[in-house]
Amino acid sequence: MKILIVGSGGREHALGWKLKQSPLVSELISVPGNPGLARLGRCVAHKVTDVAEIAALALRESVDLVVIGPESTAAAGLADALAHVGVPCFGPTRAAAELEASKAFMKDFCERHAVPTAGYKVFDDAIYAKAYLGDREPPFVIKADGLAAGKGVIIAETRREADEAIDQILFLRKFGTAGQRIVIEDFLPGEEASFFAICDGETAVPLLAAQDHKRAYDLDKGPNTGGMGAYSPAPVFTDAVRDQTMEQIILPTLRGMKAEGRPFVGVLFAGLMITPAGPKLIEFNVRFGDPECQTLMRRMKSDLAPVLLLAAQGQLAGAPKIVWDERPAVTVVYAAQGYPDEPLTGSIIRGLANAEQVPDVEIFHAGTREDEEGNLRAAGGRVLNVTATGATLRDAVDRAYEAVNKIDWPGGFCRRDIAWRALN
Ligand code: AMP
Ligand code: GLY
Repeated sequence: MKILIVGSGGREHALGWKLKQSPLVSELISVPGNPGLARLGRCVAHKVTDVAEIAALALRESVDLVVIGPESTAAAGLADALAHVGVPCFGPTRAAAELEASKAFMKDFCERHAVPTAGYKVFDDAIYAKAYLGDREPPFVIKADGLAAGKGVIIAETRREADEAIDQILFLRKFGTAGQRIVIEDFLPGEEASFFAICDGETAVPLLAAQDHKRAYDLDKGPNTGGMGAYSPAPVFTDAVRDQTMEQIILPTLRGMKAEGRPFVGVLFAGLMITPAGPKLIEFNVRFGDPECQTLMRRMKSDLAPVLLLAAQGQLAGAPKIVWDERPAVTVVYAAQGYPDEPLTGSIIRGLANAEQVPDVEIFHAGTREDEEGNLRAAGGRVLNVTATGATLRDAVDRAYEAVNKIDWPGGFCRRDIAWRALN
């Protein structure tokens, strides 16, 4: 198989790393890729939303499968374009990507199909939104409707903060057109987990759960980020919770999406709150989590390539069972100073080869570039993902930080407490 991966982050590097190990895969092409992916195959410089160019490339190269990494590519309609030219695509159509691209669509959908989620109301008028908060108790959960790179959610502790968030989104358009509408939700207490299922429009194969760390600094302090580290398994996500999640959330969603003429193909990522009353959906994403994907790929023992191809072809029911490594895995995100607000790019990173020598460690590139002299430089917010497996979670964490400590990068920082919940 010749596979084309769309994306340039650590998630895509991890997918490429895993797919390239398949005896079925002869060639990997990445658009636009990164220096890590460049070690695994050719990189072609299109933007991830250049749908027509990517579809033309897939056709010209006679690729057997396109794998969509980021939601922006799905929302731009790459799967739709590929369907027209008959190239199998692992990733949702634009209509199916609405599950992530519009929180209002997602919430209304959950209501139509009785998927357990927080109570909510949608507003496009700040006056009504504020009036709605009038007789409610904090914390208030306020979300921009559209795609805002994980930053469009404000948990306000006071009325004043909530009003300010509403004004920021609806009046001042802090998130641009993603903030034409807002969703106000009930606050759900509990512990969070990310769960993933591979879908072919009709059938869903459960993967594993992982736990992410959204805040930038240790002890869950600082601003929200795309994710600073992840580990799997997540003790809070028991087999019973997984079965409930499949029965109450994933399968009704697949049936509902098919019934509404938007069959879902790709990874359905359920961001969950594990409450005393069972798992409740916080959000759907229509792609792998980043950095959860890196962690999961380290635990997957069986071949990923046939599973993705069969899902793209609507034949997942015949897929071989996925086998997992029992050992825990962890990912530490090494980010550029200033992330998430204003990451300082351009600093030189040394010592990577040394760090990669630590047993059971793999390092994925997330936001790097190579300069003319061959130096590796920071080129994004989240720059490197140091992943490790170990006999125990403690082991995996120690290995990951042993590797982190061998990386010589004064321009970077990472959290030092990844997996603290499970280790305590
Ligand atoms: P989201 O982008 O929708 O995943 O939201 C970002 C983060 O906000 C989540 O990971 C949760 O920590 C928090 N959050 C979102 N919605 C709720 C809710 N209804 N109740 C409690 N916390 C929430
Ligand atoms: N790490 C969470 C996400 O990918 O949205």
